[in-house]
Amino acid sequence: MRVIVTNSYDEMSKEAAKIVAGQIYLKPDSVLGLATGSTPLQMYKKLIAVHEMVGLDFSQVTSFNLDEYIGMSPDNPQSYHYFMKHNFFDFINIKPENIFIPDGMAKDIDAEGRRYDALIEEKGGIDLQILGIGRNAHIGFNEPDIKFEATTHKVKLDDETIEANSRFFENESEVPRYAISMGIKTIMLAKKVVLLASGSNKAEAVYNAVYGSISPSAPASILQLHRDVTVIVDKEAGALLQKHAQQ
Ligand code: GLP
Repeated sequence: MRVIVTNSYDEMSKEAAKIVAGQIYLKPDSVLGLATGSTPLQMYKKLIAVHEMVGLDFSQVTSFNLDEYIGMSPDNPQSYHYFMKHNFFDFINIKPENIFIPDGMAKDIDAEGRRYDALIEEKGGIDLQILGIGRNAHIGFNEPDIKFEATTHKVKLDDETIEANSRFFENESEVPRYAISMGIKTIMLAKKVVLLASGSNKAEAVYNAVYGSISPSAPASILQLHRDVTVIVDKEAGALLQKHAQQ
């Protein structure tokens, strides 16, 4: 694992955007794995700026998002479909037919999971996977559990996640209780992974991801077994890492 502790959220976003842009320059038909949440927002803004200013070309790029709430239609402003469209896809030249997000409206979620994993495989696998991290060290919507879920699957969200994500909703009761998420194996099969975290409320999760014991009770800890992971944090999210390094 490579760990980059930056001075600010803005610097964290810049480092991440550089890696994504570099990936696309080197391999214009890259398959990206993308994340939602507040953390990657500024990275998306920076990539849009690179697209506008120097023509970073997304025309051959394919993207697969990590997750979606179950029962939420793509035009619902709280859906991850809506988030990606309005924060990223509408501002770059990615082709709509190259954008993939799990269908939270699918009648048969298990079949949707199988379809999604098969599609990722068919496109040659994910070259670069961007991840945020939950306060409980979840990645995608892989919540702490007694085992690692391998493939794209239905998830019951943890109370802590529901509470954390309620900031995007009118109130907590409106947060969906279920989601469909890429599984740990799906994420681990990505050739490169970049995990981003910002803010002191992520410090413990980041510590567990980097130095904790590898356990499904801290899903991000599995990344210690991946051969190409870069963790980019601001100094608040990296606070416990720095303490560990000084010991
Ligand atoms: C959500 C998403 C994750 C995301 C995490 C952290 O539950 N499913 O993919 O990484 O929460 O979100 P944020 O970046 O807003 O803190």
